[in-house]
Amino acid sequence: MTLGLKDSKATAGDHFKVTGGNPLFGEFVVQGAKNAVLKQMAATILASGEHHLFNVPKILDVEIMAELLESMGLTCQFEEDHHVVITTPAPDDIRPFADYELVEKIRASVTVLGPLLARLKAATMSLPGGDDFGHRPIDIHLNALKSLGATFTTSHGYIEGKASRLDGTTIVLDFPSHTATDNIMMAAVLANGTTTIHNAAREPEVIDLGSMLNSMGAAITGLGSSILRIEGVPILKPANYRIIPDRIDAATAIAAVIMNKGNVFIRHGVIRHMDMLLRKLAGIGVNIHPDNNGFTVWVNKRIDAAQIATLPYPGIATDYLPLLVAAMSTANGESIVTENLFEGRFKYVDELRRLGATMAIHGHHVVIKGVENLQGAPVKATDIRAGAALLVAATSADGESKVLGTTHIQRGYEDFVTRFGDLGAKIELVSNENSC
Ligand code: EPU
Repeated sequence: MTLGLKDSKATAGDHFKVTGGNPLFGEFVVQGAKNAVLKQMAATILASGEHHLFNVPKILDVEIMAELLESMGLTCQFEEDHHVVITTPAPDDIRPFADYELVEKIRASVTVLGPLLARLKAATMSLPGGDDFGHRPIDIHLNALKSLGATFTTSHGYIEGKASRLDGTTIVLDFPSHTATDNIMMAAVLANGTTTIHNAAREPEVIDLGSMLNSMGAAITGLGSSILRIEGVPILKPANYRIIPDRIDAATAIAAVIMNKGNVFIRHGVIRHMDMLLRKLAGIGVNIHPDNNGFTVWVNKRIDAAQIATLPYPGIATDYLPLLVAAMSTANGESIVTENLFEGRFKYVDELRRLGATMAIHGHHVVIKGVENLQGAPVKATDIRAGAALLVAATSADGESKVLGTTHIQRGYEDFVTRFGDLGAKIELVSNENSC
């Protein structure tokens, strides 16, 4: 499957040229949730036949996940209107192998482990490395899969999992890891007997994966709570499923309105998925009004400073953090933003300083002294959300900015240029060839 993104755009010297200083008005249509769809694509391994996924965002990570599935013998076809058809062959025709070249590109590739073990009782996968924002182990995934009956050996950078059968059991997670919960659910749906996961992740994307599995014939209860109960079933049927809207995409648009002022209808934005964030923002001068099929956000003055800390859902998500740090850079007063999940998620702070922000890192806190205006400058994205935060900040800065690292943004955002351009932001993708 190709969305054409990799071929047409992602070269090292590409950049976004941003001319800042335009208030934003209009309607922003929230894309489908990246952190749901990637796992839902992995879940198609669990049933042979033709799966139909709707509201799939056209982003690079979807393309890479499709490539990974195709390398295993599945086929993926992008149809009109964000509809993806994935055809899964009989188990004998699935190759349970995830190559280094693909695994190192996206973290979500680790979620093929659960479905492969469930369906084929075998999975070989390149060990995922660290990430641009820190050490990202998979011990919670492996320990849980072991307690279901899998064994693992590691050699030459690959991990090989096997199981003669998987048996339901009680699993207590050390931390409510998002993708570990996804992986365990997908392993347990076809296991013998009942699996109970304590301290499970509660993110809307985890619920959405569970709902899709249930629509395929699985028996999962407790979705959205910290205790999930999964009764194993012998077989699942192919999925026909619409993916939820992406709350981080919605938060990106909100951050842009905060920094540029304006009034934007966030179509498909789901308030209950973003409750803690929206309550916090409402307390510092961001106006949010629920509307049919979304909500409106408007901001007409500098927001107040705030103290914000990230936590697993329902807390304020770590993925909002770079956007919040950017938004606080022009708030009125001193803010403290605390990251509690990932150790190194502050690389963009130096880049925001290049745009004129006044902020300093102290351990896992960023202390931000709000300035009136940022100034355009060349900056570089180091991961998806950092990239989005820099782009948003650049749209509000005086003068022109150059944002490098375009592939990071394309990994998680469909057509940033048009979707924010339609609101009034001036962003242009400049390809390497054109810039010489
Ligand atoms: N952790 C472990 N061992 C594990 C798994 C996790 O120690 O086996 C630790 C991590 O090191 C981290 C914490 O647990 O300190 C949270 O990690 P979690 O497993 O919940 O994160 P993840 O599942 O790897 C997903 C999203 C991230 C998002 C986090 C937190 C996907 C593909 N990724 O990662 O999204 O930040 O949950 O909500 O779903 C993004 O979209 O840009 C992104 C990075």
